[in-house]
Amino acid sequence: MAILVTGGSGFIGSHTCVQLLDAGREIVVVDNYCNSDPEALARVRELTGKDFKQYDADVRDREALRRIFTENHIEAVIHFAGLKAVGESVQMPIEYFDNNLISTLVLLEVMKEFGCKRLVFSSSATVYGAGNQPPLTEEMPLGAPTNPYGRTKSMIEDILRDLCVADAEFSAVLLRYFNPIGAHPSGRIGENPNGIPNNLMPYVTQVAIGRLPKLSVFGDDYNTPDGTCLRDYIHVVDLARGHLCAVDYAMEHTGAEAINLGTGEGYSVLDLVHTFARVTGVDVPYVIAPRRDGDLPAVYSCPDKAKELLGWETEFGLEEMCRDSWNWQKNNPTGYNK
Ligand code: NAD
Ligand code: UD1
Repeated sequence: MAILVTGGSGFIGSHTCVQLLDAGREIVVVDNYCNSDPEALARVRELTGKDFKQYDADVRDREALRRIFTENHIEAVIHFAGLKAVGESVQMPIEYFDNNLISTLVLLEVMKEFGCKRLVFSSSATVYGAGNQPPLTEEMPLGAPTNPYGRTKSMIEDILRDLCVADAEFSAVLLRYFNPIGAHPSGRIGENPNGIPNNLMPYVTQVAIGRLPKLSVFGDDYNTPDGTCLRDYIHVVDLARGHLCAVDYAMEHTGAEAINLGTGEGYSVLDLVHTFARVTGVDVPYVIAPRRDGDLPAVYSCPDKAKELLGWETEFGLEEMCRDSWNWQKNNPTGYNK
């Protein structure tokens, strides 16, 4: 009995594979490496001392998925595979709908064919939209997504809720991630963005290592304590542990359940920059720049439901997130490229 991890070579997937293997679970990974490097999986093996089957395939490839389900006894799926860059999704909506929606539909069809009814899905806090006051709770009404990437997450949540109505035996855990940063404390796996990063922490670490000259802080005139936006940063190892709890929950329950994975703390952009400098001893030059379109002043979770249903709580704080992001960056200045 194995857990299929789609997108297992990516940032969150690779960390989750480590957690699953460390917990003694059997895993099978499928990835097409459109946004990752297979070296990540080699390092997962190195870190855990365990081996697993790895399929180099696109999740939209129905025959490849059938082969995976035929060759393995898959009891549950953790579905990370997808495209995730907000700005790129505005430029390339068709590619985003095609990749994210079709991969999910093909996966669900093949799961149905093989009688597999346990799914953990990577959703996002972006589904809450702009109309809710943080801390965000799972029963709040979902907002209209402002970009194609966010729309794919909302649409997939809807698809999974509909599926659970149609099939009373199906279990779908919709994990709404807040802002995952950090890296495995070993410094062997971490976030490896292509090109210039869009997200704050990889931008900060690339400034710190000297690959980029300075950080632009997008807006200091928000209605927040220091004027910069508040976000709920979560250590990727805590997030990965949440998937282990979610997969166990999915094994024992039916229906669709949305669950936040966040710390419940809102830190500002400048909190993060200053904590990073203090913890690492490396300065991060920055300038204040205009606001970025689509940014909300404050986004942070209420993490109570995850504690109640999954028995999961975060262990790491902002200092560990900064320490481990930097440890990964300085040991791998150009990511997985050796
Ligand atoms: P990532 O890009 O590092 O990992 C995604 C993996 O999926 C990559 O290895 C990529 O090669 C693979 N992939 C993409 N499309 C595929 C396909 N059609 N077939 C096979 N493999 C495919 O991203 P991540 O940060 O690890 O995110 C994982 C999931 O979590 C994504 O669905 C993302 O949208 C979601 N998520 C991420 C964040 C975040 O901040 N990182 C926040 C909320 C939600
Ligand atoms: C973004 C996406 C969100 C997605 C998440 C993870 C937008 C509007 N939201 O979230 O849908 O789920 O990434 O991929 O794109 N910042 C700077 N300078 C930078 C980069 C970021 O000041 O160079 C600030 C941003 O304004 C924001 C904070 O840092 O206030 C965090 O930004 P980011 O890491 O991009 O995450 P989100 O915007 O929260």
